[in-house]
Amino acid sequence: MQPISLDSFSVKYKTLLETQLKARIDNLSAPPVIKESMEYSLSAGGKRIRPLLLFATMHAFGENPEKGLDAAAALEMIHTYSLIHDDLPSMDDDDLRRGRPTNHKVFGEAIAILAGDALLTYSFQLIANSQNDQFSAEIKLKIIEAIAKAAGPEGMVGGQVADMEGEEKKLNKNELEYIHIHKTGKLLIASVLTGAILCNASDEQIGKLKDYAQHLGLAFQIRDDILDLVGDEALIGKPVGSDEYNQKSTYPSLLTLHGAKKELDIHIGQAKDILNELTLQTELLEAITDLVANRNN
Ligand code: IPE
Ligand code: IPE
Ligand code: MG
Ligand code: MG
Ligand code: MG
Repeated sequence: MQPISLDSFSVKYKTLLETQLKARIDNLSAPPVIKESMEYSLSAGGKRIRPLLLFATMHAFGENPEKGLDAAAALEMIHTYSLIHDDLPSMDDDDLRRGRPTNHKVFGEAIAILAGDALLTYSFQLIANSQNDQFSAEIKLKIIEAIAKAAGPEGMVGGQVADMEGEEKKLNKNELEYIHIHKTGKLLIASVLTGAILCNASDEQIGKLKDYAQHLGLAFQIRDDILDLVGDEALIGKPVGSDEYNQKSTYPSLLTLHGAKKELDIHIGQAKDILNELTLQTELLEAITDLVANRNN
Protein backbone atom coordinates (compact mmCIF):
# COMPACT_ATOMS: atom_id res chain seq x y z
CA MET A 1 0.00 0.00 0.00
CA GLN A 2 1.17 3.57 -0.83
CA PRO A 3 2.39 5.54 2.20
CA ILE A 4 -0.02 8.35 2.96
CA SER A 5 0.68 11.72 4.56
CA LEU A 6 -1.42 13.00 7.43
CA ASP A 7 -1.87 16.30 5.55
CA SER A 8 -3.58 14.78 2.53
CA PHE A 9 -5.54 12.32 4.70
CA SER A 10 -6.74 15.18 6.94
CA VAL A 11 -7.85 17.36 4.05
CA LYS A 12 -9.81 14.52 2.47
CA TYR A 13 -11.58 13.28 5.59
CA LYS A 14 -12.16 16.68 7.20
CA THR A 15 -13.93 17.78 4.00
CA LEU A 16 -16.10 14.66 4.03
CA LEU A 17 -16.84 15.11 7.71
CA GLU A 18 -17.75 18.78 7.41
CA THR A 19 -20.06 18.11 4.47
CA GLN A 20 -21.69 15.35 6.50
CA LEU A 21 -22.11 17.55 9.59
CA LYS A 22 -23.77 20.31 7.58
CA ALA A 23 -26.09 17.89 5.79
CA ARG A 24 -27.14 16.29 9.07
CA ILE A 25 -28.11 19.64 10.56
CA ASP A 26 -29.79 20.89 7.37
CA ASN A 27 -31.96 17.75 7.31
CA LEU A 28 -33.34 18.29 10.81
CA SER A 29 -37.01 19.18 11.28
CA ALA A 30 -36.48 21.54 14.18
CA PRO A 31 -36.92 25.22 15.04
CA PRO A 32 -34.53 27.27 12.87
CA VAL A 33 -32.77 28.87 15.85
CA ILE A 34 -31.58 25.56 17.29
CA LYS A 35 -30.30 24.45 13.89
CA GLU A 36 -28.46 27.76 13.49
CA SER A 37 -26.94 27.50 16.93
CA MET A 38 -25.78 23.88 16.41
CA GLU A 39 -24.40 24.74 12.98
CA TYR A 40 -22.69 27.89 14.28
CA SER A 41 -20.42 25.95 16.64
CA LEU A 42 -19.99 22.90 14.41
CA SER A 43 -18.94 24.93 11.38
CA ALA A 44 -16.55 27.21 13.29
CA GLY A 45 -13.68 24.87 12.48
CA GLY A 46 -11.69 23.05 15.11
CA LYS A 47 -9.00 20.52 14.56
CA ARG A 48 -11.41 17.57 14.21
CA ILE A 49 -8.91 15.46 16.12
CA ARG A 50 -11.50 12.95 17.37
CA PRO A 51 -12.85 12.15 13.88
CA LEU A 52 -9.27 12.02 12.58
CA LEU A 53 -8.34 9.53 15.29
CA LEU A 54 -11.28 7.35 14.32
CA PHE A 55 -10.42 7.53 10.61
CA ALA A 56 -6.70 6.93 11.24
CA THR A 57 -7.52 3.90 13.39
CA MET A 58 -9.62 2.45 10.58
CA HIS A 59 -6.75 3.12 8.19
CA ALA A 60 -4.47 1.23 10.58
CA PHE A 61 -6.65 -1.84 10.08
CA GLY A 62 -6.62 -1.39 6.29
CA GLU A 63 -10.33 -0.53 6.31
CA ASN A 64 -12.02 2.29 4.34
CA PRO A 65 -12.35 5.21 6.81
CA GLU A 66 -15.43 6.52 5.01
CA LYS A 67 -17.38 3.74 6.67
CA GLY A 68 -16.80 5.53 9.96
CA LEU A 69 -18.28 8.83 8.83
CA ASP A 70 -21.52 8.68 10.87
CA ALA A 71 -19.66 7.70 14.03
CA ALA A 72 -17.07 10.43 13.41
CA ALA A 73 -19.83 13.02 13.00
CA ALA A 74 -21.41 11.80 16.23
CA LEU A 75 -18.12 12.16 18.14
CA GLU A 76 -17.54 15.67 16.78
CA MET A 77 -21.08 16.65 17.81
CA ILE A 78 -20.54 15.39 21.36
CA HIS A 79 -17.21 17.21 21.56
CA THR A 80 -18.78 20.42 20.23
CA TYR A 81 -21.58 20.17 22.79
CA SER A 82 -18.96 19.84 25.52
CA LEU A 83 -17.24 23.02 24.33
CA ILE A 84 -20.49 25.01 24.22
CA HIS A 85 -21.30 24.00 27.79
CA ASP A 86 -17.68 24.37 28.99
CA ASP A 87 -17.73 28.03 27.88
CA LEU A 88 -20.98 28.95 29.67
CA PRO A 89 -20.85 31.65 32.36
CA SER A 90 -21.59 29.02 35.03
CA MET A 91 -18.59 26.99 33.86
CA ASP A 92 -15.41 28.55 32.39
CA ASP A 93 -17.19 31.76 31.31
CA ASP A 94 -15.27 32.24 28.08
CA ASP A 95 -16.17 34.59 25.23
CA LEU A 96 -14.13 33.16 22.37
CA ARG A 97 -14.14 29.66 20.86
CA ARG A 98 -12.78 28.40 17.56
CA GLY A 99 -12.01 32.01 16.69
CA ARG A 100 -15.62 33.16 17.09
CA PRO A 101 -17.71 34.59 19.93
CA THR A 102 -18.90 31.66 22.07
CA ASN A 103 -22.32 30.18 21.36
CA HIS A 104 -24.03 31.79 24.38
CA LYS A 105 -22.66 35.22 23.38
CA VAL A 106 -24.48 34.95 20.06
CA PHE A 107 -27.61 32.93 20.87
CA GLY A 108 -28.02 33.52 24.62
CA GLU A 109 -27.54 31.02 27.41
CA ALA A 110 -30.83 29.16 27.01
CA ILE A 111 -30.30 28.36 23.33
CA ALA A 112 -26.62 27.54 23.94
CA ILE A 113 -27.57 25.01 26.62
CA LEU A 114 -30.22 23.54 24.34
CA ALA A 115 -27.84 23.42 21.36
CA GLY A 116 -25.46 21.38 23.54
CA ASP A 117 -28.31 19.08 24.60
CA ALA A 118 -29.38 18.73 20.96
CA LEU A 119 -25.88 17.87 19.71
CA LEU A 120 -25.45 15.26 22.43
CA THR A 121 -28.74 13.47 21.85
CA TYR A 122 -28.66 13.81 18.06
CA SER A 123 -25.26 12.14 17.97
CA PHE A 124 -26.76 8.88 19.25
CA GLN A 125 -29.69 9.18 16.83
CA LEU A 126 -27.13 9.41 14.01
CA ILE A 127 -25.38 6.23 15.06
CA ALA A 128 -28.63 4.35 15.60
CA ASN A 129 -29.90 5.43 12.15
CA SER A 130 -26.69 4.78 10.26
CA GLN A 131 -27.37 2.74 7.14
CA ASN A 132 -23.74 1.79 6.64
CA ASP A 133 -23.22 -1.92 6.05
CA GLN A 134 -20.33 -1.78 8.52
CA PHE A 135 -22.84 -1.07 11.26
CA SER A 136 -24.49 -4.30 12.33
CA ALA A 137 -26.94 -3.92 15.21
CA GLU A 138 -24.34 -5.53 17.50
CA ILE A 139 -21.59 -3.11 16.45
CA LYS A 140 -23.92 -0.12 16.84
CA LEU A 141 -24.74 -1.22 20.36
CA LYS A 142 -21.05 -1.61 21.25
CA ILE A 143 -20.24 1.83 19.86
CA ILE A 144 -23.18 3.50 21.58
CA GLU A 145 -22.11 1.95 24.87
CA ALA A 146 -18.46 2.98 24.46
CA ILE A 147 -19.30 6.56 23.49
CA ALA A 148 -22.03 7.00 26.12
CA LYS A 149 -19.71 5.72 28.84
CA ALA A 150 -16.90 8.02 27.67
CA ALA A 151 -19.12 11.09 27.52
CA GLY A 152 -21.21 10.52 30.65
CA PRO A 153 -20.73 10.53 34.42
CA GLU A 154 -18.01 7.86 34.29
CA GLY A 155 -16.23 9.84 31.60
CA MET A 156 -16.19 13.43 30.42
CA VAL A 157 -18.99 14.69 32.66
CA GLY A 158 -17.24 13.18 35.69
CA GLY A 159 -14.03 14.93 34.66
CA GLN A 160 -15.78 18.25 34.18
CA VAL A 161 -17.36 17.96 37.64
CA ALA A 162 -13.97 17.27 39.22
CA ASP A 163 -12.49 20.18 37.23
CA MET A 164 -15.16 22.57 38.57
CA GLU A 165 -14.83 21.26 42.13
CA GLY A 166 -11.05 21.62 41.89
CA GLU A 167 -11.18 25.36 41.22
CA GLU A 168 -9.29 27.39 43.84
CA LYS A 169 -7.87 24.18 45.32
CA LYS A 170 -4.37 22.79 45.12
CA LEU A 171 -4.85 19.29 43.73
CA ASN A 172 -2.21 16.59 43.75
CA LYS A 173 -0.98 14.86 40.61
CA ASN A 174 -3.35 11.90 40.94
CA GLU A 175 -6.35 14.18 41.27
CA LEU A 176 -5.23 16.23 38.29
CA GLU A 177 -4.63 13.09 36.24
CA TYR A 178 -8.19 11.95 37.02
CA ILE A 179 -9.53 15.26 35.68
CA HIS A 180 -7.47 15.18 32.51
CA ILE A 181 -8.13 11.54 31.70
CA HIS A 182 -11.85 12.00 32.22
CA LYS A 183 -12.67 15.45 30.89
CA THR A 184 -10.55 15.01 27.76
CA GLY A 185 -8.95 11.57 27.57
CA LYS A 186 -12.11 9.49 27.61
CA LEU A 187 -13.61 10.92 24.41
CA LEU A 188 -10.26 10.63 22.62
CA ILE A 189 -10.02 7.00 23.78
CA ALA A 190 -13.59 6.40 22.57
CA SER A 191 -12.68 7.83 19.15
CA VAL A 192 -9.87 5.32 18.72
CA LEU A 193 -11.93 2.45 20.12
CA THR A 194 -14.91 3.24 17.90
CA GLY A 195 -12.61 2.95 14.88
CA ALA A 196 -11.26 -0.32 16.24
CA ILE A 197 -14.74 -1.75 16.97
CA LEU A 198 -15.81 -0.89 13.41
CA CYS A 199 -12.85 -3.00 12.23
CA ASN A 200 -13.66 -5.97 14.47
CA ALA A 201 -10.43 -5.54 16.42
CA SER A 202 -9.36 -8.34 18.77
CA ASP A 203 -9.50 -7.85 22.54
CA GLU A 204 -5.72 -7.61 22.59
CA GLN A 205 -5.70 -4.88 19.94
CA ILE A 206 -8.46 -3.01 21.76
CA GLY A 207 -6.47 -3.22 25.01
CA LYS A 208 -3.33 -1.79 23.41
CA LEU A 209 -5.19 0.94 21.52
CA LYS A 210 -6.94 1.95 24.73
CA ASP A 211 -3.59 2.32 26.54
CA TYR A 212 -2.19 4.25 23.57
CA ALA A 213 -5.14 6.65 23.53
CA GLN A 214 -5.02 7.16 27.28
CA HIS A 215 -1.44 8.45 27.02
CA LEU A 216 -2.42 10.50 23.98
CA GLY A 217 -5.41 11.96 25.82
CA LEU A 218 -3.33 12.99 28.81
CA ALA A 219 -0.74 14.53 26.52
CA PHE A 220 -3.48 16.36 24.62
CA GLN A 221 -4.85 18.03 27.76
CA ILE A 222 -1.37 18.82 29.11
CA ARG A 223 -0.66 20.61 25.82
CA ASP A 224 -4.03 22.39 26.18
CA ASP A 225 -2.98 23.60 29.65
CA ILE A 226 0.39 24.77 28.29
CA LEU A 227 -1.29 26.65 25.42
CA ASP A 228 -3.65 28.34 27.89
CA LEU A 229 -0.53 29.78 29.48
CA VAL A 230 1.81 30.52 26.58
CA GLY A 231 -0.33 30.07 23.45
CA ASP A 232 -1.28 32.70 20.91
CA GLU A 233 -4.97 33.62 21.10
CA ALA A 234 -5.11 34.21 17.34
CA LEU A 235 -3.90 30.65 16.76
CA ILE A 236 -5.79 28.77 19.47
CA GLY A 237 -9.02 30.71 18.81
CA LYS A 238 -9.87 30.84 22.53
CA PRO A 239 -8.78 33.10 25.38
CA VAL A 240 -5.29 32.68 26.81
CA GLY A 241 -5.17 32.81 30.61
CA SER A 242 -8.64 31.36 31.22
CA ASP A 243 -7.26 28.68 33.58
CA GLU A 244 -5.38 31.14 35.73
CA TYR A 245 -8.39 33.45 35.87
CA ASN A 246 -10.61 30.57 37.03
CA GLN A 247 -7.91 29.30 39.40
CA LYS A 248 -7.87 25.85 37.81
CA SER A 249 -5.37 23.22 38.75
CA THR A 250 -3.34 22.51 35.63
CA TYR A 251 -0.13 20.64 34.83
CA PRO A 252 1.90 23.87 34.54
CA SER A 253 0.46 25.23 37.81
CA LEU A 254 1.36 21.98 39.61
CA LEU A 255 4.65 21.08 37.92
CA THR A 256 5.83 24.40 36.36
CA LEU A 257 5.88 24.91 32.60
CA HIS A 258 9.09 22.93 32.29
CA GLY A 259 7.70 20.05 34.38
CA ALA A 260 4.48 20.00 32.34
CA LYS A 261 6.48 19.79 29.10
CA LYS A 262 8.49 16.90 30.53
CA GLU A 263 5.29 15.08 31.52
CA LEU A 264 3.89 15.69 28.03
CA ASP A 265 7.00 14.14 26.46
CA ILE A 266 6.74 11.10 28.74
CA HIS A 267 3.16 10.40 27.65
CA ILE A 268 3.95 10.98 23.98
CA GLY A 269 6.87 8.52 24.27
CA GLN A 270 4.67 5.92 25.96
CA ALA A 271 1.95 6.38 23.35
CA LYS A 272 4.45 5.81 20.56
CA ASP A 273 5.95 2.74 22.23
CA ILE A 274 2.51 1.15 22.35
CA LEU A 275 1.88 1.93 18.68
CA ASN A 276 5.14 0.17 17.85
CA GLU A 277 3.89 -2.99 19.53
CA LEU A 278 0.88 -3.15 17.20
CA THR A 279 1.23 -4.95 13.91
CA LEU A 280 -1.03 -2.48 12.12
CA GLN A 281 -0.48 0.39 9.64
CA THR A 282 0.02 2.94 12.38
CA GLU A 283 1.80 5.70 10.42
CA LEU A 284 -1.16 8.09 10.58
CA LEU A 285 -1.70 7.49 14.30
CA GLU A 286 2.01 8.20 14.79
CA ALA A 287 1.71 11.45 12.84
CA ILE A 288 -1.32 12.47 14.93
CA THR A 289 0.68 11.70 18.08
CA ASP A 290 3.46 14.05 16.90
CA LEU A 291 0.88 16.68 16.12
CA VAL A 292 -0.55 16.46 19.63
CA ALA A 293 2.93 16.86 21.11
CA ASN A 294 3.80 19.96 19.11
CA ARG A 295 0.52 21.61 18.31
CA ASN A 296 0.15 25.39 18.58
CA ASN A 297 -3.60 25.43 18.24
C1 IPE B 1 -10.59 21.60 23.38
O1 IPE B 1 -10.58 20.56 22.45
C2 IPE B 1 -11.11 21.11 24.67
C3 IPE B 1 -10.36 19.98 25.20
C4 IPE B 1 -10.90 18.84 25.42
C5 IPE B 1 -8.96 20.17 25.53
P1 IPE B 1 -9.88 20.72 21.05
O2 IPE B 1 -8.51 21.33 21.24
O3 IPE B 1 -9.93 19.43 20.32
O4 IPE B 1 -10.79 21.80 20.34
P2 IPE B 1 -11.17 22.01 18.82
O5 IPE B 1 -12.16 20.95 18.47
O6 IPE B 1 -9.91 21.91 18.00
O7 IPE B 1 -11.79 23.38 18.76
C1 IPE C 1 -12.40 21.24 28.58
O1 IPE C 1 -11.20 21.51 29.20
C2 IPE C 1 -12.71 19.84 28.42
C3 IPE C 1 -14.07 19.72 27.84
C4 IPE C 1 -14.66 20.62 27.09
C5 IPE C 1 -14.79 18.52 28.10
P1 IPE C 1 -10.82 23.04 29.10
O2 IPE C 1 -11.80 23.90 29.80
O3 IPE C 1 -9.38 23.18 29.44
O4 IPE C 1 -10.98 23.27 27.51
P2 IPE C 1 -10.77 24.67 26.80
O5 IPE C 1 -9.36 25.10 27.11
O6 IPE C 1 -11.80 25.60 27.31
O7 IPE C 1 -10.92 24.32 25.34
MG1 MG D 1 -13.15 23.69 31.34
MG1 MG E 1 -12.64 25.79 29.11
MG1 MG F 1 -8.06 24.48 28.47
